[in-house]
Amino acid sequence: MEINNATVFITGANRGLGLAFARDAVRRGAQKVYAGMPNTNGFDEPGVVPVRIDVTDPTSVAAAAEAAADTTILINNAGIAALIDNPLAADFEAQSKALFDTNYYGLARVTQAFEPGLSKVPHAAIINVLSDIVWLARPYLTPYAASKAAAWSYTNQLRFHLADRGIQVLGLHVGFLDTDLTNGIDVPKTSPTDVAIQTYDALAAGKSEIMADKGTVRLKSTLADEVPGYITPPPGLF
Ligand SMILES: NC(=O)c1ccc[n+]([C@@H]2O[C@H](COP(=O)([O-])OP(=O)(O)OC[C@H]3O[C@@H](n4cnc5c(N)ncnc54)[C@H](OP(=O)(O)O)[C@@H]3O)[C@@H](O)[C@H]2O)c1
Repeated sequence: MEINNATVFITGANRGLGLAFARDAVRRGAQKVYAGMPNTNGFDEPGVVPVRIDVTDPTSVAAAAEAAADTTILINNAGIAALIDNPLAADFEAQSKALFDTNYYGLARVTQAFEPGLSKVPHAAIINVLSDIVWLARPYLTPYAASKAAAWSYTNQLRFHLADRGIQVLGLHVGFLDTDLTNGIDVPKTSPTDVAIQTYDALAAGKSEIMADKGTVRLKSTLADEVPGYITPPPGLF
């Protein structure tokens, strides 16, 4: 599905990857671009309409779906991360609940609220922002990894379920991005603008999945190996 003439709604679009999605949608000639965010105060981006949405709050999600009922491309981008010591840490359960509420239930809540509108038009799409972490062992990211793995599974079930309704479902997997989420982590990072461009190109090419950096491509290519990358990470992967 092409972006030009589409009406795009992006969650978590006041900064980071979400803002890059909004800007590139404007550049590509989208009919309308809604930027979803928990607090719209002070947001001022040419060609972009801010809409309040907290993906953890069903009332706010329903109001946003109503305000943006003409959406034809939904981008589930809002996400949070947290570092813990390891999978046995005392704060494991509390952190997991918070991360699942945003990264998994939040994504599903928004999808449920927008689906009736998407199903009404001949061509629609849902892009779910996932991560390379679904195939990578990083004990300090256990709750984040589990929430993204759950969101990946949801994405796969959803794609199958919506296949006969003309709704394209695209899963985006990527490693470290140069955004606030990775502040203070000193590793090579991909530009969010580059990821937004690649993702829209993949959507236009009719794809169901995109690996948006070389490390993620390499990691996924190990899945059929006897020792896949989630057991022994490929060398050089951060
Ligand atoms: N950065 C990376 O290395 C990386 C790698 C792979 C995947 N990802 C994924 O990419 C997506 C975007 O991440 P990012 O790096 O751009 O992060 P970011 O710069 O921290 O931005 C996160 C965005 O999500 C919004 N958000 C957080 N909780 C929300 C909620 N409950 N309801 C609505 N919006 C909410 C934030 O709003 P506020 O400004 O109000 O907090 C912000 O707009 C996430 O799903 C993340 O997991 C990131």
